[in-house]
Amino acid sequence: MCAKKNREAKIEVPAALDADEAARIAFASDRELTYHDFAEGEHPIVRIEHLNKSFDQTKVLRDVNLNVWPGEVVVVLGPSGSGKSTMLRCINLLERPTAGHILIEDQEITGKSTTDVNNLRRDVGMVFQSFNLFPHLTAKQNVMIGQTKVLKKSKAEADAEATKQLDAVGLADRADFKPPQLSGGQQQRVAIARAVAMHPNVLLFDEPTSALDPELVRGVLDVMRDLAENSGMTMIVVTHEMGFARDVADRVVFMEGGVVVEQGKPDRVFDHPENPRTAEFLGSIG
Ligand SMILES: Nc1ncnc2c1ncn2[C@@H]1O[C@H](COP(=O)(O)OP(=O)(O)O)[C@@H](O)[C@H]1O
Ligand SMILES: [Mg+2]
Repeated sequence: MCAKKNREAKIEVPAALDADEAARIAFASDRELTYHDFAEGEHPIVRIEHLNKSFDQTKVLRDVNLNVWPGEVVVVLGPSGSGKSTMLRCINLLERPTAGHILIEDQEITGKSTTDVNNLRRDVGMVFQSFNLFPHLTAKQNVMIGQTKVLKKSKAEADAEATKQLDAVGLADRADFKPPQLSGGQQQRVAIARAVAMHPNVLLFDEPTSALDPELVRGVLDVMRDLAENSGMTMIVVTHEMGFARDVADRVVFMEGGVVVEQGKPDRVFDHPENPRTAEFLGSIG
């Protein structure tokens, strides 16, 4: 026989739920878990069912289940290595799930062609810890490029939208600066303007303030708070900013070891964590 091959056992999960049935179940279960208001008959905008992700032999996500409703702000907390980034990256297919289902507006996104993935990335924006701006383009050009290349907007339209979004993040006067001429906080605000200018249905944030000097964190959080409170956009935010989570989140999700250990309304999770691991984590950083 050939050398032992370290093949992972296939993970079996049930088929994705029917959309109406999933919405009914989520409506019943989620009302206790979030301050976000949703109506009977409404459907979650993101449905994660039995999501598993492994890298080689390492199981990073184990049966993650989560609904996010249109306009809801969900903050994901958890120690380093718990799988937070991997979950976010699965939602826009920067990572391919090993097993399970992710549905955006009831459309299953796993097993899609490249074109569909491009469409998906248009609908699901992402703000990274490291900004990921083009260094040779100005702030405004960075905000325009996705609009012209992906959304096929005219230059004039993209320019007007970029101006509006840079103004919204307080950077109207930095439109012609290139990233190296901007502080980290300003660069991150450009990255947020760029993401918002695409008008995604869902915006993902992966530790958007973790790379910033402490004095620059506030400006970025203020922009995110404004988006959360005034834009109606669906946001899933991975952060260690507990004040932001408590004040801005509709729902807090605590992950550890690739599992959603606990989720609920922020004051409930912060003040009365049900799981000892959540309590320990919140205690250690509080
Ligand atoms: N591309 C990859 N290849 C191998 N292991 C990875 C990869 N990405 C993440 N991991 C592992 O998955 C685990 C979870 O990582 P991650 O999702 O980045 O956690 P978090 O964002 O919560 O800190 C870690 O143990 C990490 O080393
Ligand atoms: Mg991470």
